[in-house]
Amino acid sequence: MAILDKHKILETNATLLLVFSLLVVTVGGIVEIAPLFYLENTIEEVDGVRPYSPLELQGREVYIREGCYVCHSQMIRPFRDEHMRYGHYSLAAESMYDRPFQWGSKRTGPDLARVGGKYSDAWHVQHFIEPQSVVPESIMPKYAFLKDNIITADSIHIQDLMETHRLVGVPYTDEMIANAALDFRNQADFDSDWDATVERYPGAQVRNFDLEPGISEMDALIAYMQMLGTLVDFSDFEQTPDGWQR
Ligand code: HEC
Repeated sequence: MAILDKHKILETNATLLLVFSLLVVTVGGIVEIAPLFYLENTIEEVDGVRPYSPLELQGREVYIREGCYVCHSQMIRPFRDEHMRYGHYSLAAESMYDRPFQWGSKRTGPDLARVGGKYSDAWHVQHFIEPQSVVPESIMPKYAFLKDNIITADSIHIQDLMETHRLVGVPYTDEMIANAALDFRNQADFDSDWDATVERYPGAQVRNFDLEPGISEMDALIAYMQMLGTLVDFSDFEQTPDGWQR
């Protein structure tokens, strides 16, 4: 029997065809997907990427709670119009500690993956209090109440939050978890003794973000905004008409 005749048996028998199709798709799927769970280099490590500091992590919680991801993406795609507008396309490593990831699926507002450093803290405060006061045509909702939500490391259980993230693979050390409350307070206070905090979280920006006394959700959210996209040093990349080149 020629091979084509054997295949004819499959092609003329719907059930058999279904079973064999499933088999082929299963084997193909396993071959493609399974190695990703074992390969160490699935995500290429990139210098500078580190777990979120306690204050940034809390800001991220506010971001998730308020549903900012409904209107904002955090993933710059490797297309010319995107990198012209937002900067270097997002690297997988840049969201490797994001649980859950915040890539988003819709851009009612702009992508935020590299919004860190784009505006001053004061701009963010004003924008969150009343977006229309800085961008008159904005349809972004107001978040002024964040300023009044004063938080402490205890009231938000920051240590538990970090332990939960460690459970799913974020490499928080025992030292980081033990110092969670201290680091949380230090990052929002430039007059604190923050050397060790920045050593634990290189590149962490230390200051009173909303310039009001007390640490509020506004502080945490702006700390998060201002670090987005700032961890990887892209200064040795150049923007050319063909994209970013080293
Ligand atoms: C209903 C949709 C919507 C929601 C929800 C929303 N935004 Fe926006 N956002 C926008 C739009 C539209 C703009 C562009 C106009 C402007 O700057 O206000 C924007 C702009 C921004 C900008 C300035 C970005 C830039 O590059 O100019 C930041 C930062 C921002 N939003 C953060 C947030 C955060 C944080 C939240 C959640 C607390 C949030 N947004 C929720 C729609 C939204």
